[in-house]
Amino acid sequence: MENWKTVYQSRLVTADEAVTHIPNNSRVLIGHAANQPPALVEAMCRNYRQYENVELVHWVTLFGSEYCAPEMQGHLRFNGLFISGSNRKAVAQNLADFTPTYFGQCPRYFRDGTLPIDAVLISVTPPDEHGFCSLGVSVGGTLPATQVAKVVIAQVNRNLPRTYGDSHIHVSKIDYLVEADTPLPTMESGPVGEVEAAIGRNCASLIEDGSTLQLGIGSIPDAVLKSLTDKKDLGIHSEMIADGVIDLYEKGIINGAKKTIHKGKIVVAFLMGSQRLYDFVHNNPDVEVLPVDHVNDPWVIGQNRKMVSINSCLQVDFNGQVNSESMGIQQFSGVGGQLDYIRGSFLSPGGKAILAMPSTAKKGTLSRIVPVFEAGTTVTTPRTDTHYIVTEYGIANLRGKSLRERAKLLIGIAHPKFHEELWAAYKERYGEDENFLSHS
Ligand code: COA
Repeated sequence: MENWKTVYQSRLVTADEAVTHIPNNSRVLIGHAANQPPALVEAMCRNYRQYENVELVHWVTLFGSEYCAPEMQGHLRFNGLFISGSNRKAVAQNLADFTPTYFGQCPRYFRDGTLPIDAVLISVTPPDEHGFCSLGVSVGGTLPATQVAKVVIAQVNRNLPRTYGDSHIHVSKIDYLVEADTPLPTMESGPVGEVEAAIGRNCASLIEDGSTLQLGIGSIPDAVLKSLTDKKDLGIHSEMIADGVIDLYEKGIINGAKKTIHKGKIVVAFLMGSQRLYDFVHNNPDVEVLPVDHVNDPWVIGQNRKMVSINSCLQVDFNGQVNSESMGIQQFSGVGGQLDYIRGSFLSPGGKAILAMPSTAKKGTLSRIVPVFEAGTTVTTPRTDTHYIVTEYGIANLRGKSLRERAKLLIGIAHPKFHEELWAAYKERYGEDENFLSHS
């Protein structure tokens, strides 16, 4: 092979030149979360008039979504595989699209032509002595996309941590390289409020020593981790991690000692958090960042004994259907890996699937436990998959329960100020039932 250093030099270009190689009528995948290469995305937006009908796809973003601006329509259009704060309004206004997908299945879609990727824009570390760059904080679906895209363009960023796992791409596989040391976007976790702390304690009561954990997105996972300081031998097998895992790792509570696959390792598809998290994973062989079609595969997840998935949700109806991604008809986020981890936990001996939420929303004015969903609401987790629902008021184990039992258990963990109206809805559906014997 030609010396990689020569290859590297010959492919170095400016951002404006690199993005001229993106063809019209194409689909471009942008690196996920903190792997997004801002220098390249900004160059595309700056030069948007040079494109016709280019679709931009990505999952979570920690950046603005300038490409959703009305003047870019016809040139650039965003099609979200997950919706974030900066593009939610654009989707609601039909200036952008949303495509429902399981995160873990996306690499297969890229490979089998369901969602062909023409070009991919990624962030990488500078090459090591063998010419390998690392995708660092997010390998997930981004690395698999580089393996099928016709054009691979990388921003080489010295601020990106170098991670272990399957996070590497050789310089020879990158068509254009742009050097730009932009700061990594961070996601600071806020203080844990009383409600989240109570939810954290309730979740912790379900977690046994030796469990392997998956932690989802939102404010609850950090609260759960803060309640685990008296546990032993926990492991992590999770689509993502944020800052919360560091303290438990440093105390030796997260050590992966009882994991049945990837023993001893923290296994993730991506991570996002503060600079402390990025420093923690840099060159840390205890953290493996791997492609999401492996990490989120329910059959892989289920090989962990005592697998406990902990995800957040927005609403639960009396039947135990769970909405984690829409406000009525408006798309709010996406499914990510929620259902894969719920199913993986089901396959795991001793596994548990927890869905947690505060009992109310909108400053306490709305109950999140509702008799029925508003028309158009997305069901993220079907009632047949739901296991534990947790609020600050307790735990409802819905598995194997009748619809009537489910409704009762859920009212039991709703906010007390909504009990009267929820019981009224219950009675309207099921009638008076003083004699009904619950087996829960
Ligand atoms: N009706 C109206 N508004 C609601 C609502 C409801 N039923 N439920 C929540 N809201 C509001 C909240 O009040 C809050 O508004 P505020 O910020 O003005 O207070 C906002 O919506 C966000 O709710 P919150 O519960 O704080 O969200 P979160 O940041 O904790 O994220 C999910 C929760 C469910 C959106 C997020 O976990 C998600 O997208 N999950 C799906 C994907 C997934 O689980 N992946 C797992 C693998 S990573």
